[in-house]
Amino acid sequence: MKKCLLLGNGGREAVLAEQISKGYALYSIMPYINPSIEEYVEKSNGKYIVGDPFDKELVKKFVKDENIEACVVSQDNLLQEGLIDLAKELGLETFGPTSKGSKIEWSKTYALEIVKKLAPEMVIKNEAITSQEALERAISQYQDDSFVVKPEGLTGGKGVKVGGIHFKGKEEGYEYAKSCLEEAGRVIVQDKVEGREFTVMALTDGEHIVVTPTTFDYPYRFEEDKGPGTGGMGCLSFENGRLPFLEQEDIDKCANLIQKTIKELNKDSLEFSGVIYGGFFKCKDGIKFIEFNARFGDPEAINVLNALETPFTEIFEHIQNKTLSASNCKFKKNYTFTVYVVSPNYAIKSSKEPCTFTLNKEAILEKGAKIYFASTKHLEGNQYSSVGNSRLFAVHTEGESLEKAKEKAYKAMENNIDEILSYRRDIGEIYEH
Ligand code: GLY
Repeated sequence: MKKCLLLGNGGREAVLAEQISKGYALYSIMPYINPSIEEYVEKSNGKYIVGDPFDKELVKKFVKDENIEACVVSQDNLLQEGLIDLAKELGLETFGPTSKGSKIEWSKTYALEIVKKLAPEMVIKNEAITSQEALERAISQYQDDSFVVKPEGLTGGKGVKVGGIHFKGKEEGYEYAKSCLEEAGRVIVQDKVEGREFTVMALTDGEHIVVTPTTFDYPYRFEEDKGPGTGGMGCLSFENGRLPFLEQEDIDKCANLIQKTIKELNKDSLEFSGVIYGGFFKCKDGIKFIEFNARFGDPEAINVLNALETPFTEIFEHIQNKTLSASNCKFKKNYTFTVYVVSPNYAIKSSKEPCTFTLNKEAILEKGAKIYFASTKHLEGNQYSSVGNSRLFAVHTEGESLEKAKEKAYKAMENNIDEILSYRRDIGEIYEH
């Protein structure tokens, strides 16, 4: 059985671990023991060590000592740091772009330049700013806070701030943009648009793409899309791979842009395989581009990998052979539903104290839901503890309808999750901004 190393520790990696362990022996280097990854390592007779996945010497040694043959990375900073480049140097088969290939995520200006060239009608009016004078001039053109500030570089999906939501008033927006400029020497100021946000992800072998079911994410911390931005509090997908406010031609447009983007990356010799994540807005005047990521979204990965009909390890082989196609990478026709559970301070206050909580995992599983651990350590019995101040674990269900999947998830969670924890009860509503 092929030995496959997975780097990264979130809910996205927990579902990747499940998928990899169905066909390969799973290996992992984790900074703390993620209970889901531990479970799938053990089920597949693999091995994990506790250590820093950014430590290239450690990765090299583990790969050599264990004769590891393949490597999957889908975490933004591990990609930027070149862990896939290292895996390639070691002769492993890989899923994920090289550091240069992931430039479409870590350079917002590079991504915007590509889209301006390939689909100018999808670009929202914006300016890439490199000086304080240019920033003052750009902000002075707005009457109010109807603009969006996008920092350059990786921000874990949390750096983009929208006027009227994440900052109030021009002055606050200006101060945030100034801090981004000071940090990275570059910041993007973009018009704020009204519409509905959605994600189109595509698996790719670097030539061909296969579009996964379109997902709807819940980036705001509180119900009715209030409060600060987060990595995502929940996610859903529909049985037809679309969302109620989208036509097939909308998705085709996004897929077309992704396909052309892959060609463009190849032209720039930026090696890419794995997943391209496209964030888009459906507006009155058409589909608008928001961002590219060079990886699966989290929690989006939980929805789309659970919707896979073809085993992930077969897709991995097709990616190595550059034979990926819609006929060898299929998805089930069902509704998928994910809710993230977080500590009370998540995205609100920084807190160094770990949050200890109880979770009746068995009762949740018995009710037909799945659990994917993220920033959580198991203590003993039903006792767990947070690691840092990130999302704790995701509850996932599938169903014949959105209502059924939603009811199954929330019923499974009832009375089985410590009351001190927090989660949104409105996943399933489709909001417009
Ligand atoms: N859920 C958004 C992201 O992973 O970037």
